[in-house]
Amino acid sequence: MSEVVSYNREGNIGVITVNYPPVNALGQAVRSGLLAALEQGQKDTEAKALLLVCEGRTFIAGADIREFGKPMQEPTLPTLVNTFENSDKPLVAAIHGTALGGGLETALSCHYRVAVSSAKVGLPEVKLGLLPGAGGTQRLPRLTGAQKALEMITTGEFVGANDALALGILDAVEEGDDIRAVGMAYAQKVVDEGKPVRRVRDITDKIDADKGSDVFDQFRDELKKRARGLFSPFKCVDAVEAAFNLPFDEGMKRERELFMECMESPQRAGLIHSFFGEREVSKVKGLPKDTPVRDVKSVGIIGAGTMGGGIAMNFVNVGIPVTIVEVKQDALDKGLAIIRRNYENSAKKGKLTQEQVEQRMALITTSLTYDDFRDVDLVIEAVFEDMAIKKEIFAKLDEVCKPGAILASNTSTLDIDEIASATKRPEDVVGMHFFSPANVMKLLENVRGSKTSDEVKATVMAVAKKIKKVGVMVGNCYGFVGNRMLHKRGTEAMSLVDEGATPQQVDKVLTDLGFPMGQFAMSDLAGIDVGYRIREERRKAGEDIPASWMDKLAEQGRLGQKTQAGVYKYEEGSRKPIPDPEVEQLIEQFRKEQGITPREITDQEILERCVYVMINEGAKILEEGIADRPLDIDIVWIYGYGFPAYRGGPMFWADQEGLDTILSAVKKYQDTVGGEQWEPAALLEKLVAEGRKFADL
Ligand code: 3HC
Repeated sequence: MSEVVSYNREGNIGVITVNYPPVNALGQAVRSGLLAALEQGQKDTEAKALLLVCEGRTFIAGADIREFGKPMQEPTLPTLVNTFENSDKPLVAAIHGTALGGGLETALSCHYRVAVSSAKVGLPEVKLGLLPGAGGTQRLPRLTGAQKALEMITTGEFVGANDALALGILDAVEEGDDIRAVGMAYAQKVVDEGKPVRRVRDITDKIDADKGSDVFDQFRDELKKRARGLFSPFKCVDAVEAAFNLPFDEGMKRERELFMECMESPQRAGLIHSFFGEREVSKVKGLPKDTPVRDVKSVGIIGAGTMGGGIAMNFVNVGIPVTIVEVKQDALDKGLAIIRRNYENSAKKGKLTQEQVEQRMALITTSLTYDDFRDVDLVIEAVFEDMAIKKEIFAKLDEVCKPGAILASNTSTLDIDEIASATKRPEDVVGMHFFSPANVMKLLENVRGSKTSDEVKATVMAVAKKIKKVGVMVGNCYGFVGNRMLHKRGTEAMSLVDEGATPQQVDKVLTDLGFPMGQFAMSDLAGIDVGYRIREERRKAGEDIPASWMDKLAEQGRLGQKTQAGVYKYEEGSRKPIPDPEVEQLIEQFRKEQGITPREITDQEILERCVYVMINEGAKILEEGIADRPLDIDIVWIYGYGFPAYRGGPMFWADQEGLDTILSAVKKYQDTVGGEQWEPAALLEKLVAEGRKFADL
């Protein structure tokens, strides 16, 4: 018998147990083990019913994603589920943890499904650029009808056990956490009551009811908005529709064809890279796994502005109390009101109860003095980008905070070591760079200073997980990973407009690549004053930052969405950017002042100058060890800036574009545009010379 799947009999129940940590994924050994165990159960004349149950933290969480992209090994998952369904002894699946993807498909091929109430089920393949490829698109709608199956399959969202029971996906839900006992009891009932083999493939009432329904076209229309640029969600709809238009076996064949189309799409490769990347970033190079982590039970935040408020919400959401300090009471009142409004909006949408809103608000204390930080475990400073002010703040924190408290800055560009130098405990100082809106964006760029201790590094990575963010540890330099690359893109975007492009042309190239918004729409969202202040800071520090038409916008008070005017204009209550003739004139005027004659700029040039410049900078970031691996950069960009996950992040995408293509463009712009951003990264040159990719590093 296989090591990962076992068969034994308890009374008159044959028990098939999967034990393949961490998540019982359906790798080749599990698939063949399951078939062998089923065969044994069929032959076992004493077994009147069979039970499928899993050891460890979860039921089968899906196909083994690590096998994707490699040659498929027998037995395939469709063979496995069909053999299970064809069993002539009743088969019961007992579900705990999560039954996902191929895991749920295996459960659907069993004749009965029982779960504990904490269990969840789902078909998340779409999040990996796939569709359920082992009968999920054919069997699920037979239980739930078209609408719910389409929702689950096109969003990949999980459904809790009780909802799954109501939807007909499960047959019973029990309290308790002993899944084996729950499964045994149900299987015994099947035997005692003489329940028959019941194959989902033969259930047709919901298929008949929804045949010819326009729900499929409705979903396609909706997906054009919700899943812009994505491949597999549309294939999911085609596959589910096949369940209604074709007999079961032909539907299965159609599902397989569509599954293989998805499997071969570059989006699948990009999304799976993102899936593993998201998990890989938590393993920080050089930071031992067993590094002690400090307890963070209370948090102080300096600044009740957009950032400070958003950061506070992250902690409060997971039950960690925060103390927010500001200089003026009205800033506190305003900040608190915004937090409340955000929570009230969630309550209106049914995401929170009013009681939860009050519980969360009650976890926030406000104060005008740093003395109230005396007992907190972590302080995050979130004031605007001004080194002198930050240093003053950190000197004060050093005086007030207890030993062992972590002193973090949410700076998006400034030198963590210089900030730390204002304290006598630089080992406790670290960057925690949240992304706007901080309560929504999943990235937390944790920045290590040269003296930050391992314990502090490990703690901020653990904090990221605790507040449900994706933490990426990066090194200290201007802008760290994200903003350093963003600012290169920003400079090019501004120059492209100087030279003749319109802001909307630049933005469209970026949204066509899959970004949710372009460079200029993003500046308007973040506030034009943010970039302006950063440029001013750098000018003060003696850097040669050329004048820009965006400075003029800031000086005119066109600060972006918050003033309903920035690079674009905005109608009251709307976030939709509208090109503004006034800005066109301002740009025209700026070109005249600078003696620039505008020229026609192609979309290809915009793409190369805005994105290749980031890749070149990313390569420098790797060379300098600011990012440990290309995937750290990919994850920063996917979760911090909305780089399309289906393209795998900028460095993964660069490998697909071809590093030689990128390098020759970089060299071309070094000659034509110039500037240090176009000096080819030595790493890029080396990789091209060696015929290697970022993925090979
Ligand atoms: N295959 C291979 N490895 C997997 C895996 C899978 N399906 N799911 C999770 N893992 C690995 C993770 O990479 C991680 O490895 P690491 O410890 O080396 O980093 C480990 O299992 C634990 O995963 P998480 O850190 O994500 O643990 P959580 O407890 O937070 O979450 C989970 C568990 C909810 C199961 C989550 O891992 C998850 O969502 N997994 C993906 C599920 C999925 O997409 N299934 C569908 C697969 S496609 C499919 O089935 C195709 C079929 O239709 C033909």
